[in-house]
Amino acid sequence: MSEKVLLAILGSPHGNGMCAAMLNCAIGKAEKNGYHVTKINLYEKNLSYCKGCRACMNTQTCIQKDDLQEIAACLQKCQTVLLAAPVYWANVPAAVKNLFDRLLGTAMEETNTFPRPRLKGKEYLLLTSCNTPFPFSWIFRQSRGAIRSMDEFFKTAGMKPIGKIVCAGTVNKKDLPKQTIKKIERCMS
Ligand SMILES: Cc1cc2nc3c(=O)[nH]c(=O)nc-3n(C[C@H](O)[C@H](O)[C@H](O)COP(=O)(O)O)c2cc1C
Repeated sequence: MSEKVLLAILGSPHGNGMCAAMLNCAIGKAEKNGYHVTKINLYEKNLSYCKGCRACMNTQTCIQKDDLQEIAACLQKCQTVLLAAPVYWANVPAAVKNLFDRLLGTAMEETNTFPRPRLKGKEYLLLTSCNTPFPFSWIFRQSRGAIRSMDEFFKTAGMKPIGKIVCAGTVNKKDLPKQTIKKIERCMS
């Protein structure tokens, strides 16, 4: 039987923050379930900005040579992607948005009508955290904005969601709430 491969991306500058805790919780469960996990800390990577040249539409990967090729190769090889990124201005942090931009031609092919997905058959789990408490985090489109942005990339790439988990109201939280842990474990089972 071939090995199950999982790519876990931390899209927060805080290695010990809420998103890191959520991601580590999911990784722990995945490893118990026999996944081989590759973890990427986006803020430790060297990634230039997307120049919008669109060469990747033909090459399927970016022509700028930095750490993008390594991430794109992991994405193509894995079956499951976990992405943990905090809410920044009701969206994802700039580093995460830039990753999506740099992966344009890896994720999709342009046609005269709708984009054709290039990462079909894979699945993804989204993890996010924000200061705004629930339900305002959702009503005022804080966590909703970040989830929508992440969803747009993976859906367009042809991937299927296995969960979208928000840890809201993080201002005075030191540990992951039990409820959040349960939700993550359920998605990874
Ligand atoms: C630049 C910046 C922008 C932020 N924007 C929002 C926001 O729009 N809404 C919100 O609820 N929290 C916002 N936050 C708070 C973070 O989402 C929150 O502290 C989160 O739990 C951090 O996760 P981390 O510990 O994994 O980095 C922002 C934080 C920063 C640094």
